[in-house]
Amino acid sequence: MSAFQAPTGTRDVLAPESSRFESLVARFARLAELAGYGLVVSPMFEDVALFSRGVGEATDVVTKEMYVFEDKGGRTIALRPEGTAPVVRAFVQHRPVLPWKAWYATPCFRYERPQAGRYRQFHQLGVEALGPQDADLDVEVVALFEGLRRSLGLEGVELRVNSMGDAACLPGYRAVLASYLSDHGEELCADHRTSWSRNPLRVLDCKKQACVSVRAGAPLLRDALCDACEAHFDRFLSGLGSLGIRWTRDDFLVRGLDYYTRTTFEFRASGLDAAQDTICGGGRYNGLVEELGGPPTPGIGFAAGVERILLACAVEGVELAPERATEVFVVDVVGGGSARDLTDALRRAGVAADRAFDGRSLKSQLKQADRSGARVACIVGPEEEAAGVVTVRWMRESGAGGPGPGRQERVARGDLVEAVARWTR
Ligand code: HAM
Repeated sequence: MSAFQAPTGTRDVLAPESSRFESLVARFARLAELAGYGLVVSPMFEDVALFSRGVGEATDVVTKEMYVFEDKGGRTIALRPEGTAPVVRAFVQHRPVLPWKAWYATPCFRYERPQAGRYRQFHQLGVEALGPQDADLDVEVVALFEGLRRSLGLEGVELRVNSMGDAACLPGYRAVLASYLSDHGEELCADHRTSWSRNPLRVLDCKKQACVSVRAGAPLLRDALCDACEAHFDRFLSGLGSLGIRWTRDDFLVRGLDYYTRTTFEFRASGLDAAQDTICGGGRYNGLVEELGGPPTPGIGFAAGVERILLACAVEGVELAPERATEVFVVDVVGGGSARDLTDALRRAGVAADRAFDGRSLKSQLKQADRSGARVACIVGPEEEAAGVVTVRWMRESGAGGPGPGRQERVARGDLVEAVARWTR
């Protein structure tokens, strides 16, 4: 084992996995831009109070999972555990024109128990849309992730939806739930037995059997929704139906962060372990901008876990991107100058080209050419150099118009780029 390893709960992503990673981000970026969302890039760390205020003092994310440290200036800083509070902070600071629709791709940090699909550094693809109250925006946001799912061809994914109510109806429900829990406090899981009163809603999404049993008899938020929340939710559901998006209502989908109001949703992948099967989660947060010092401004968004989507794709055998393998390998046994110039010319023409360095033997260069996956080796030896030609050897199936594997022929140096570009297209 080498002296240094990636820290527990983190991963190095090397090629070819990294090309799947990159392709997923690019696909998401294209869909988000298509829907009018602009990229926002904000700091990887923030004042810790942004998350304790924004995400909620009683959440696991804040109490147990944040990476917090004091910087050399004595400020208490947290590595971002999620992307919503920072985007809202940026909105409050810069006040872009409403509606403001932003997307992001960012590493996030949570000190969790690592397992497949749960890491201490992971990556989120997300959108946040600020301004409109309109339930059709909720539909748009859900449809955006649904579009990504569809474009990937991921099939085993279920959309769960719920309404969390708002300032008019949620406090009343919370009180009713608290009164129910006060009669059942002793039956809750060890964690919630002592902490449920800080935020009774947390019990509803606890996965421990004790809490699951208690919540089965709990009063439901759906029975406490005010008329406005009910109407919003109905419009949202009918919008999903109109776009052909299937959903399941889940009364216990309260999500792990405290800022949600009205719509909440999650996409879950059936191929993943139940504890880590949420590949995307989001919802409305109509009070968050104000909570963070801005004017009352509704908002909605989601974040999707890159690692979990890639895992779900692997389970379903979904090919994410044709891997961008080297197409041409230039083998040069006369000093390397031709390899330098020809790979550069090929790359300028848009051909993925590579070469060996350090004046290796012909045999070693051909081996490297084979390992690179190139379809074509372009060989320059003393004879070729003297005649101003290159020997082109097909190592694999060539593209349209090119000869089959094992064949080779000589091409004038001046014609090489054009010929190879044509054959490898
Ligand atoms: P979240 O549910 O905490 O929501 O995280 C969103 C997604 O990030 C999860 O559904 C999951 O796919 C991924 N994820 C979370 N933790 C980990 C982890 N430890 N390892 C790997 N993947 C993970 C939020 O963060 C909200 N900010 C979403 C949102 C945006 N709501 C409104 N706007």
